[in-house]
Amino acid sequence: MLNSQNHPLAALKANPFVLAPMAGITDHAFRSFMKALDASVVVTELVSSHGIQYKSEKTFSLMSFDETQHPIGIQLFGEDPESVAAAAEVAEERGADFIDLNFGCPVPKVVKKGAGSALLKDLQALEKMLSTVVRTVKIPVTIKIRTGWDASSRNAEEVCHIAYNEGITWVAIHGRTRAQGYSGMADWDYIAQVKAKSSIPILGNGDIHTAREAVDKLKSSGCDGVMIGRGCLKNPFIFHDALRIWQGGQELKIQDRPLKKVIRKLYEYLELYCEPHLVGIQLKKFAAWYSTGYPGASQFRKEIFQTQELSVTLEKTLSFFDAISLYDQEDTSQEDFLMGGHG
Ligand SMILES: Cc1cc2nc3c(=O)[nH]c(=O)nc-3n(C[C@H](O)[C@H](O)[C@H](O)COP(=O)(O)O)c2cc1C
Repeated sequence: MLNSQNHPLAALKANPFVLAPMAGITDHAFRSFMKALDASVVVTELVSSHGIQYKSEKTFSLMSFDETQHPIGIQLFGEDPESVAAAAEVAEERGADFIDLNFGCPVPKVVKKGAGSALLKDLQALEKMLSTVVRTVKIPVTIKIRTGWDASSRNAEEVCHIAYNEGITWVAIHGRTRAQGYSGMADWDYIAQVKAKSSIPILGNGDIHTAREAVDKLKSSGCDGVMIGRGCLKNPFIFHDALRIWQGGQELKIQDRPLKKVIRKLYEYLELYCEPHLVGIQLKKFAAWYSTGYPGASQFRKEIFQTQELSVTLEKTLSFFDAISLYDQEDTSQEDFLMGGHG
């Protein structure tokens, strides 16, 4: 199975830079876009096991992918092992290469039901969930966690130990506790400690802003891979550059970054895979993020968010990215950016 190029671990060996799941962002279009720009493994946003059980079309649309995205994981969340296992079976039937289970979501609505990061407080329930899902599907199962519930109960090492015993393929660790939400910084020292004591492959995650940081964190933590989320929303070349640096090459020179061309490509993916009424919204969202740090960005954002016509949004976007000098981007990595999410 490991020989299959669609096995997530095989893909990780060739390219350890994985796209982090992000609700409302890592949809079909964005996954194809990032894959074309050298993301390794990709994962859907979190999908409700109950939504799958009720055969919700909206839920199924979150699971849509195409052959360019392999290996693709479908991320599930839920509180009941049987229901999550039944959902995993459906994901397997739909051609997912692996199942990723979400134990990192800090959102109160999810946690109150006993799903997401709530399972970090009940390791017996977590263990039961893992064994039930692993027994039900033939494809690999991975998990994504936080370092623990809060600072006084960090237990990622114990979770990794349970995961290893249950036959889980890897553990991705977002280096914050549930209590931290998105505040503070991801604790990469802690991730490295857990990696050093664990037998299971580990992906480190949190606050990687540049390709160099991705490679440095990979090396210094000893992790088997790193997951990048928000970093690719300001810099679409982060996976491409990280892979090149890791392979011993150089990142793209600033003047060689085809930003305008890449944004046109993103638009093509949005047209292909988003519902028509969402294309403009998504284009505005991504264009606004990619404009971060460039002179004139706030005026540009104001203009596109006032625009109703998709063709005008596209025209304004392309002319903004045509006119900027890529050298003029300021480093905004220390500013708050998307301080909420499901993991
Ligand atoms: C808008 C947003 C949505 C997210 N949705 C998910 C999700 O559906 N599942 C998940 O496991 N993590 C989710 N996350 C967490 C990310 O995968 C990642 O763990 C977190 O953003 C830290 O990594 P980063 O600093 O590279 O972004 C989300 C994060 C953000 C910002």
